[in-house]
Amino acid sequence: MKKIVVFSGAGLSAESGLKTFRDGGGLWEEFDINEVATPEAWAKNPALVLKFYNLRKAQILNASPNLAHIAIAELEKDYDVHVITQNIDDLHERAGSSKIIHLHGEILKVRSSINPELIKGHKEDLALGEKSEDGSQLRPHIEWFGESVPEMDRAIKTMVNAEIVIVVGTSLNVYPAAGLIQYAPTNAQFFIVDPVEINYTSLRKVTFLRTSATKGIPQIAESLKKEIKVV
Ligand code: APR
Repeated sequence: MKKIVVFSGAGLSAESGLKTFRDGGGLWEEFDINEVATPEAWAKNPALVLKFYNLRKAQILNASPNLAHIAIAELEKDYDVHVITQNIDDLHERAGSSKIIHLHGEILKVRSSINPELIKGHKEDLALGEKSEDGSQLRPHIEWFGESVPEMDRAIKTMVNAEIVIVVGTSLNVYPAAGLIQYAPTNAQFFIVDPVEINYTSLRKVTFLRTSATKGIPQIAESLKKEIKVV
């Protein structure tokens, strides 16, 4: 089976009703990153950080996977599909994808605020005073701005032998995540799905689908299915 790597961002979940970050009306217009998504914010006002992530958790629990998430999961019938996502929602999981790397963490998990290995599931609101087994305050299992991206090595290893790369719903603004696509082999078949032109310069041949995820991803899946039939 040919290996597909899907690299997704907030735009993939936009049609599930979840806000992106940098579009008009995006989350970073509503909230100040430095107040809710950095280790300094956590040290200064943990209650505000928990309020921000509890709000997003409730929205995600109320959201459902859209046609794009489902089409990505269905590609697993004919391809070896690996999802690398910047998204902290569980919509890829709920759509049925089986190999998923979350570069920026997972909102339905929490962890010790001193030992990042102590992680556990937590679907309810997280409150001050809820402790990890090591006695520290539990925090969202999210990689904040300025923190390392521990899953980056695993993501690079996944990308280096991709035969097909599908980039969907990301402005490619945030590193090191955005640098991941440079690790794909030069001869990999590249697709980018986004309603707007994103700043992606490369010597590669890229098929841009200037459309939404729920239109573009099923189109790609259709064309890849035909490729299978031809072979
Ligand atoms: N279908 C496909 N793409 C869409 C759609 C849609 N329906 N709606 C918006 N987009 C595109 C936008 O045009 C934009 O290029 O999705 C992209 C969203 O970009 P961002 O809001 O910057 O989100 P993302 O790239 O995921 O941000 C990366 O930044 O704030 C951090 O940790 C956060 O993981 C996030 C990271």
